[in-house]
Amino acid sequence: MKKKILITGGAGFIGSHVVRKFVKQYPEYTIINLDALTYAGNLENLKDIEKAANYYFEKINILDATQINSVFEKYAITDVIHLAAESHVDRSILSPIDFVYTNIAGTVNLLNAAKAYWKKDAHRFYHVSTDEVYGTLGNTGFFTEETRYSPNSPYSASKASSDHFVRAYGETYGLPYVITNCSNNYGPNQFPEKLIPLFIHNIVNKKPLPVYGKGDNTRDWLFVIDHAIAIDRVFHHGKNHETYNIGGFNEWKNIDLVKLLCKQMDEKLGNNSGTSEALISYVKDRPGHDLRYAIDASKINKELGWKPSVSLEEGLSQTIDWYLDNSQWLEDVTSGVYKEYIRSNK
Ligand code: NAD
Ligand code: DAU
Repeated sequence: MKKKILITGGAGFIGSHVVRKFVKQYPEYTIINLDALTYAGNLENLKDIEKAANYYFEKINILDATQINSVFEKYAITDVIHLAAESHVDRSILSPIDFVYTNIAGTVNLLNAAKAYWKKDAHRFYHVSTDEVYGTLGNTGFFTEETRYSPNSPYSASKASSDHFVRAYGETYGLPYVITNCSNNYGPNQFPEKLIPLFIHNIVNKKPLPVYGKGDNTRDWLFVIDHAIAIDRVFHHGKNHETYNIGGFNEWKNIDLVKLLCKQMDEKLGNNSGTSEALISYVKDRPGHDLRYAIDASKINKELGWKPSVSLEEGLSQTIDWYLDNSQWLEDVTSGVYKEYIRSNK
């Protein structure tokens, strides 16, 4: 059967890398990118593949069950890779209900469509999720696929809930699914509300770098292209009804990461050493701020042979180069609604 894959959230950061990879690598597949184009969705991210013969775009909100059903019918969708979501923790603290709607109700709409249209087992509903569902670690240990869910932010609570719904549709209705829980991504095309692109943007504009709390929180960083490779691997070779953790084996304390970013920015901008670090400003901590995330990615490594290929130093350098080369992209997305949000949050 020729695959007709519905990728939701394909105009966003990770989604655009996944769409590009699938469109280019699998010309025999039909790829349908379904995205509402919220503040985080940007078709500029996909300019290079928008005319590909196997690519279609549908501007649809996943809250609209009728339109989702029409898309399943129109394209005879065989598989779903679901990335569409409200993805930013700080926004979830300001407005949890948006996360309930999109991340939970939107996911259930997609599950209902898949349940209604798929009559055989030769399908797959792939839910792209986050390590934040596991809550926080202390100074030691790792999240495994067996770690108990314990989400602490409205964002992670909504993603945990959507994971549970996906699993429940597998158990109750026999829907073939797979879930991955991944650590912090970075790379080109990430909206400049997240730590790395926000700080690149602020350094370029000589604005303060707001480090939450003491900067002691630790995240595991993964280059977005490595995540797209992992998604490809799990989509094609993962086992149904299983979860795989995806991580970078790459833990950094926020303050150490920010200092590395400042150093690389100074070198690339031809600044005196220390120029960017002088912009660091310690601000009020994020409420409920998880101390540490760290992924044990040995299952995907052993079963599917995946491991990250890009070091943080290399990936960060490539990321900075992309933002410096694409200043118009940054300019375009940092207008209007985005500016209003940043004003109210910082
Ligand atoms: P993003 O915010 O950059 O993109 C989200 C995309 O979803 C956008 O294109 C947006 O327009 C679309 N979208 C939002 N609400 C929608 C709706 N109601 N209907 C249709 N489309 C809608 O997000 P991202 O960082 O690329 O994350 C993608 C997925 O990966 C999310 O599910 C997120 O939870 C998960 N994830 C992200 C990370 C990370 O570090 N960014 C890590 C692990 C998992
Ligand atoms: O772990 C995976 C998750 O990573 C994804 O599921 C989320 O979609 C993604 O947004 C990301 O969540 P974080 O909250 O970890 O990412 P963020 O870039 O917002 O923050 C990274 C760390 O930096 C976190 O400890 C908070 C801190 N931070 C963030 C911002 C935006 C700051 O100190 N200052 C800031 O201005």
